[in-house]
Amino acid sequence: MTKKINIAIDGHSSCGKGTLAKYLADQFEYCFIDTGAMYRAVTYAIHQENIDLKDRDAIKTLLHTQNISIEVVENTHQLNIEYKGVNINEAIRMPAISNQVSQVSEIDIVRSYLVEIQQEMALKKGVVMDGRDIGTHVIPDAELKIFMTADAKIRAQRRFDELQKKDVNITYDQVLENIVFRDKTDSTREINPLIQATDAKILDNSELKLEEQNYIAKQWVLEKLSQ
Ligand code: DC
Repeated sequence: MTKKINIAIDGHSSCGKGTLAKYLADQFEYCFIDTGAMYRAVTYAIHQENIDLKDRDAIKTLLHTQNISIEVVENTHQLNIEYKGVNINEAIRMPAISNQVSQVSEIDIVRSYLVEIQQEMALKKGVVMDGRDIGTHVIPDAELKIFMTADAKIRAQRRFDELQKKDVNITYDQVLENIVFRDKTDSTREINPLIQATDAKILDNSELKLEEQNYIAKQWVLEKLSQ
């Protein structure tokens, strides 16, 4: 049987973790698990139901209603996320959700609920999972851990360009502000903050072209697979 490994990609907001994860998943026919999308899905549901973030009972009930569906689609090897039967893969990327998701991801019951789903998905190996606490907490035994980062201003410009293409009404300064805020909240929260795993390989893509970054990471995977 072909050897399969798990790949954990952690790092700052908007530095292209998802793009790299998707690339590696396509190259090696692995599953791409975007854990940020899971935190966004819960944020979306909280937002839809107008739940106060301090109301832990309401959040607990929401998580147990089974209205949030997070599944790996068999033929695409990617997540499909639905709320009450409606696909929300696009809706969870909107600024209203981006602005609240860091606070939601600080909530212990939300984290433990999602981490359990993530760990279950990684059991069979062959996943590329991206997030903030993947290499340190979710799959600390991942064979390859990558920690991605890039200059905040460069990240903001890339994200702003993406949102412009989708006609989202937002300024560059607002995007930068959101990124700086999320970096701070993600790195300083009490439970499973964003920190670099000691055995992670660092990938700073501020000055890298997409192809260069992909090449570097692919070599790391090949190295691990040949060990
Ligand atoms: O990767 P992203 O920007 O879509 O993630 C959205 C938010 O979810 C981010 O602000 C931090 C949080 N997150 C987290 O706390 N832990 C993860 N494993 C993934 C994301």
